[in-house]
Amino acid sequence: MEGLSHRDYGRIVFFTGAGMSAESGVPTYRGRGGIWDSYRWEEYACQRAFERDPDKVLKFHELRRKAVLACEPHAGHRVIAALQKARPGVRIVTQNIDGMHQRAGATDVIELHGSLWRVRCEEHGVRQDVGEAYRETRCPACGRHLRPDIVWFEDSLDRFTIEEAVRAIRAADLFISIGTSGVVWPAAGFPRFAKEGGALCVEINPEANEMSPLYDISIREPAGKALPRLFTDL
Ligand code: OAD
Repeated sequence: MEGLSHRDYGRIVFFTGAGMSAESGVPTYRGRGGIWDSYRWEEYACQRAFERDPDKVLKFHELRRKAVLACEPHAGHRVIAALQKARPGVRIVTQNIDGMHQRAGATDVIELHGSLWRVRCEEHGVRQDVGEAYRETRCPACGRHLRPDIVWFEDSLDRFTIEEAVRAIRAADLFISIGTSGVVWPAAGFPRFAKEGGALCVEINPEANEMSPLYDISIREPAGKALPRLFTDL
């Protein structure tokens, strides 16, 4: 397709999933080579698993951290970050926990599913914890186990984060969804808010999925190729 001019749009939302990071080398969750093919989430990615065996769950997340640290943002991440720097009204809503948008220079990222780079004590709140291994595994204030500040299976999303994301998406006049399979709720329902709000809805994903019919434009290309071509006037 031909490129879009970002100048034609007041409020742009990029809505990203694991496919956004795939070209950087971060594995996706579903599809070929997906993480949930090799690891049962019941053993590694839910509160019950953490209570049963916190060390096993933290080790799994350290593997995820190591994998992400070995990767670099790609041209698509850089296009989004550059657009956010260049003008107001550009929001990023991501399902990714890898912090890759921020590493490319984005500063305003709504992280629906939390972050690999934070831990949390239910009593004493959230702390940054960046690095290959967890620096702290117990809360210094109360000694409880610190858990990754990630929305695991069976967890609820943070209410304020959802509200902020939905507000941004409803207000968008250009909504660009990138690399999401559209099967994990409630995030999978968010593109509908953009449609209802009257945004031009664009999908970037090499493969179609159940959500694809909602989009006005579908670009069947990888994100790192499609994004630089989509915004030619940056
Ligand atoms: P999935 O792994 O379910 O889907 C990845 C999508 O990316 C698929 O639709 C692929 O076709 C697409 N894709 C692959 N390579 C791509 C590329 N180079 N460019 C564009 N698209 C590409 O990932 P999500 O939809 O993000 O939760 O999954 C949602 C949530 O499920 C994740 O946030 C994660 C997981 O459980 C947590 O970690 C909390």
